[in-house]
Amino acid sequence: MRIVITGAAGFVGSHLVDMFLSLGYEVVAIDNLITGKRSNLTVNKNLTFLEQNVYKYIEVEGKVDWVLHFASPASPIDFMKYPIPILKVGSSGTINCLGLAKAKGAKFFLASTSEVYGDPLEHPQKETYVGNVDPISERSVYDESKRFAEAATMAYHRFHKINVRIIRIFNTYGPRMRPEDGRVLSNFITQAMTGKPITVYGDGSQTRSFQYVSDLVNGITKLMDVEYQLPVNLGNPNEFTILELANIVKKITNSSSEIIFKPLPDADPKRRRPDISRAKEILKWDSKVSLEDGLKKMIDYYKSIGLTKV
Ligand SMILES: NC(=O)c1ccc[n+]([C@@H]2O[C@H](COP(=O)([O-])OP(=O)(O)OC[C@H]3O[C@@H](n4cnc5c(N)ncnc54)[C@H](O)[C@@H]3O)[C@@H](O)[C@H]2O)c1
Repeated sequence: MRIVITGAAGFVGSHLVDMFLSLGYEVVAIDNLITGKRSNLTVNKNLTFLEQNVYKYIEVEGKVDWVLHFASPASPIDFMKYPIPILKVGSSGTINCLGLAKAKGAKFFLASTSEVYGDPLEHPQKETYVGNVDPISERSVYDESKRFAEAATMAYHRFHKINVRIIRIFNTYGPRMRPEDGRVLSNFITQAMTGKPITVYGDGSQTRSFQYVSDLVNGITKLMDVEYQLPVNLGNPNEFTILELANIVKKITNSSSEIIFKPLPDADPKRRRPDISRAKEILKWDSKVSLEDGLKKMIDYYKSIGLTKV
């Protein structure tokens, strides 16, 4: 098996690389390092790294069995920092990756997101829910780019008969998530570990569910092994309020940080929780890692990169 992974030097991509290398596959890792780090990738004779921007061009020599398109900045601060690159990587980038799959006769796998559901009016979210997205909010660059990516994937599937998979990833966390990337768990852990106030946006009653990265990687490999072309939610359905989460992080890190409240950002979804019945049925998959166990691993990683508790 020879697998191309875009966004391979990022948080999720690098865990996929590790998993495929452990199976003895050949991996071509593509990344332009806009949010990823070269050091997230190990040195291995079966790994080739190509520094390419997938919305400009992709050049891969030799046979390819799968193209896994995971490239995209994905954290809320990136929505403000890189709005145009996000739009481009989801649109032109996805078309280029689909073109590569078509040229190589490879299968295509898209990392989409729960953000395609926007601020959902249906709860929990099933794959059949078409979403409630504001097309002009600050986060719309990400939501709409992923919605376009899904549309492009299905069009290539219907028109060019490319064998595709689409996953809608719900909040995922774990080692190699950048401490400064602005997502809620990395924020809370960093703040708690460095003794800064833990910032809760709004009153903290909005809910989220959190999936540990190994559960996601496991779901991805299972989906590659079955023939199923429609989107599949992958996430952990255990729902926590943001305030509960802040208190859990505070407890596990044994932190004395105070919890402070700030205004809710533009179009921040109030509830988000996956309905994973499709994944359970098709993949015989379920999330296994508890929030507490996953958080401990992430905290160990943050310690290993020098983030210190005060
Ligand atoms: N982590 C989550 O909770 C989550 C949730 C939903 C969806 N996703 C999706 O999973 C994928 C990976 O997310 P992540 O959390 O690992 O983010 P990340 O920022 O750590 O990784 C994204 C990687 O893509 C690379 N990249 C971005 N634009 C590129 C371009 N034009 N060309 C080449 N490389 C490019 C970045 O440098 C980075 O290495 C993304 O597509 C994201 O939308 C993640």
